[in-house]
Amino acid sequence: MKTEILKLLRESKDYVSGQQLCETFGVSRTAIWKVMNQLKEEGYEVEAVRNRGYRIVGSTDVMTQEELSSLLDGRTKWAGQHVFYYDEIDSTNLKAKQFGEEGAPHGTLAVADMQTAGRGRRGRGWDSPAGSSIYMSIMLRPKFPPVKAPMLTIVMAYSVARALCTCTGLDVQIKWPNDIILNGKKIVGILTEMSTEIDYINHIVIGVGINVNMESFPEEIVEKATSLRIETGEIQKRAPIVVEIMSEFETWYEAFEQSEDLSFLQDDYNQLLVNCGKDVRILGAKETYQAHALGINETGELLVRREDGSEEAVYAGEVSVRGVYGYV
Ligand code: BTN
Repeated sequence: MKTEILKLLRESKDYVSGQQLCETFGVSRTAIWKVMNQLKEEGYEVEAVRNRGYRIVGSTDVMTQEELSSLLDGRTKWAGQHVFYYDEIDSTNLKAKQFGEEGAPHGTLAVADMQTAGRGRRGRGWDSPAGSSIYMSIMLRPKFPPVKAPMLTIVMAYSVARALCTCTGLDVQIKWPNDIILNGKKIVGILTEMSTEIDYINHIVIGVGINVNMESFPEEIVEKATSLRIETGEIQKRAPIVVEIMSEFETWYEAFEQSEDLSFLQDDYNQLLVNCGKDVRILGAKETYQAHALGINETGELLVRREDGSEEAVYAGEVSVRGVYGYV
């Protein structure tokens, strides 16, 4: 009921009368009054005016099941339409993997306020304190073969970058293949994990961690990481960002299904690429070398020109890319 009440209040331009709410949900005035008090405790500014009813006049950064469900309702067809919110969890990627194994529908989303065992790429952890970040993982049941899976990470990075631009107006960039960068520092990490049989995908989980309202970072990563709040000086609302990402991702995932490759976003992705047209260091298993980054090709590999003039495509699973003087 709280989700529906929130949606009604948000969508109504005028006050919503207590009487109308009682009739719609078949409950007493006291029950409605209790919901309004819960909403106030969660951070909504609810205005109650005698003989007129209730109205939401503002809110802080509210992250609850009801906030996410009510904002997502009708915004997408499948991405995040089944959403599960947790105050605390080991890892949303593990949760989404469990959804996959239990037969949950394509697009099921896990969101948490805090993770106790956040997972990063290359076996690293992902620092996941409470109250300040977005930890979200979407479970997908793609119809395409496993070789195309790495391209999906690029689709997600592109979607997150676009969503952050829309929600904050900031010029975020992408560090190939899938870190999102703001003013030279990392604000988003993406971890894709896949469960496959020999030639088909059971399910894929794409996890996204976004530094939203953190005020500081541990010494070891302070040079490399930042948050939206540090860069803008303002507290950002997390739930609308989650919703915007789902909306963008659904659009570009469907475009990817239609297309054989990433040619539909290649140019736009390259526009956002922080290293595009710059010299980079390529860190491979066998060698480290300097090259000039030219942008991604249709399959999401990074095209680089070596110092001897030869061009090659490097594959995300095999190399890391750094700026010549540091992280980007
Ligand atoms: C990276 O190392 O850059 C990837 C970090 C991915 C972190 C996110 S937070 C939500 C999801 N759950 C996890 O355990 N990891 C991902």
